[in-house]
Amino acid sequence: MSRIRCRICTLGLSRMDEPVAGPIIPIVPVTPAKPEPLPLCASTELGEKGNAFVFDVLHYRESARAFVLRFDGRVVGYLNRCLHVPTEMDWQYGEFLDSGKEFIMCSIHGAVYEPLTGRCAGGPCGRGKLTVIDAFERDGQVYWYPSRDTKPAFA
Ligand code: FES
Repeated sequence: MSRIRCRICTLGLSRMDEPVAGPIIPIVPVTPAKPEPLPLCASTELGEKGNAFVFDVLHYRESARAFVLRFDGRVVGYLNRCLHVPTEMDWQYGEFLDSGKEFIMCSIHGAVYEPLTGRCAGGPCGRGKLTVIDAFERDGQVYWYPSRDTKPAFA
């Protein structure tokens, strides 16, 4: 009868037709470390429902723009790309909200998105959602986290 050495625990020999007793090694998924947050602007630059701070990114290695704005006191960030046609949405540079300041509104065909979630709320954007940019503020400064898909334009 042939015997083999257990490749996992290397504790002993076993016959090939016998199960090998040994320690159970849990499989732990490896989570990539979160990157360092990158500064964007001072918190005071984002007025409530005011203009957004627009910045350049690489999205899937292609040049794109993203923005952060303040809505209901929270800083939210999205890729500046409509779901209907992949084009920038602002009316004027940094102006994303509709006249009632209730929605992010695409200036091309009027798709509207919920500012706090990025979900399409009407128009030709379907059931989709804007691409979220993970942004936050701390100690008077607004930051964003690059992701696997969206990276700083100037690294
Ligand atoms: S491109 Fe935005 S609604 Fe058509």
